Amino acid sequence: MGDFLKFPEGFLWGSATSAHQVEGGNRNDWSAWERSPERIAQLNQEGKNPTDFISGAACDSYHRYSEDFDIAKRLGHTIHRLSIEWSRIEPQEGKFDHEEMRHYINVVKSLRERGIEPMVTLWHFSNPLWFSRQGGFLDNRSPERYKRFISYVVDNLKGDVGLWITFNEATTVYAGFSYMRGIWPPQRKSFFEFLRFRRNIAKAHMLAYHEIKNHYRSWPDVSPGSPQANIVSHNVFPLVGAVENNSYYVIPKLWERLGIRNILDTGINNWLWAKTLPYQDFLGLNYYTTKRIGVGPAPAERTNEEFEHWEIFPEGLYRRLMDLKKFNKPIFITENGIADASDSKRVSYIKGHAAAVWRAMRDGVRVSGYLYWSLLDNFEWHHGFAPRFGLVEIDYATRERKIRSSALEYAKIIRERGFIYPE
Ligand code: BGC
Repeated sequence: MGDFLKFPEGFLWGSATSAHQVEGGNRNDWSAWERSPERIAQLNQEGKNPTDFISGAACDSYHRYSEDFDIAKRLGHTIHRLSIEWSRIEPQEGKFDHEEMRHYINVVKSLRERGIEPMVTLWHFSNPLWFSRQGGFLDNRSPERYKRFISYVVDNLKGDVGLWITFNEATTVYAGFSYMRGIWPPQRKSFFEFLRFRRNIAKAHMLAYHEIKNHYRSWPDVSPGSPQANIVSHNVFPLVGAVENNSYYVIPKLWERLGIRNILDTGINNWLWAKTLPYQDFLGLNYYTTKRIGVGPAPAERTNEEFEHWEIFPEGLYRRLMDLKKFNKPIFITENGIADASDSKRVSYIKGHAAAVWRAMRDGVRVSGYLYWSLLDNFEWHHGFAPRFGLVEIDYATRERKIRSSALEYAKIIRERGFIYPE
């Protein structure tokens, strides 16, 4: 039997979602793409049912968020990450919808009422139609447009929100899928556009950082413990699924000495990292899996779904955290999760990764919280509704929520502030 891995008091535990994946009823560049004749034709050709790939009403969390947060509270969560849907707030350029803003004010307040710390992402893959028609983030005026939007949101939520994320995986996953691989809207395959997009995101992030800080500067009565006292903003830059090489295990010393692993991991992001680091109060790390390159023994365990066949490799999370130690910033695990409809691997996945976090903390990394992806089953982008990441199962016919048994195990970990590992 293993040891009891105890987490410090104040360590935040919770889960994450994003607007387009759970809300339902969105009208943005994704919903337009999901219904486009080209997309439908492509799915038909692949023998798939297009309705399974249209976000539509999704989990209907736009209307059922209180129910969702009741569940999160019941499960003992102390932090919840959600995103604001830009297309709702600014449906036409420069015209803000106050009703929609009120909606998010209520959403955030209802987390606070339940004692759950809100973490707000300002951009998670979806754009208003007017913005994408103007070229999205390829247009050089996009950082200013983004700043105008986030300024309005921050102004309205600053009393209740202290943790901001400017962009989710924009420069990594999204840039790759949307501008290099041609899979996500706007389905471009251009290295030039990929670079330009990333440059504008970095600019937008830096502008936003100052803007957020400015809002809090003019805020009266900064008292300890209030959100404005611990304002943090950041950008999820680290890779989802860092690169590991099988040779790493074959000739570890040489591999390490040549620094190849580091170059592969963060090399392509280095200049952005260096530029934006002074504008990040904390680092958000999304970690799911590891990709292996080169020759060597076959990876151990994989997810049991048809989806992606991601390898389960908690050691990778430990290594990423150790890589980030030198920046000496607080770190949140902003996403970590598994698509597991049968719920047979989720508990060991969570424990394995939380144990990696615990080890990294023991070895001096400042980790402030762990957020499982996701609270609910949801719309998994171009994979549609099939992958089941949720702690809570959604019956898409009735929108009924059913708490999975792994969610109760996770609640036990939270309650006991740790768990025995290995079992
Ligand atoms: C994204 C989520 C997505 C998850 C699982 C992350 O890259 O931020 O939106 O659902 O991975 O694929």
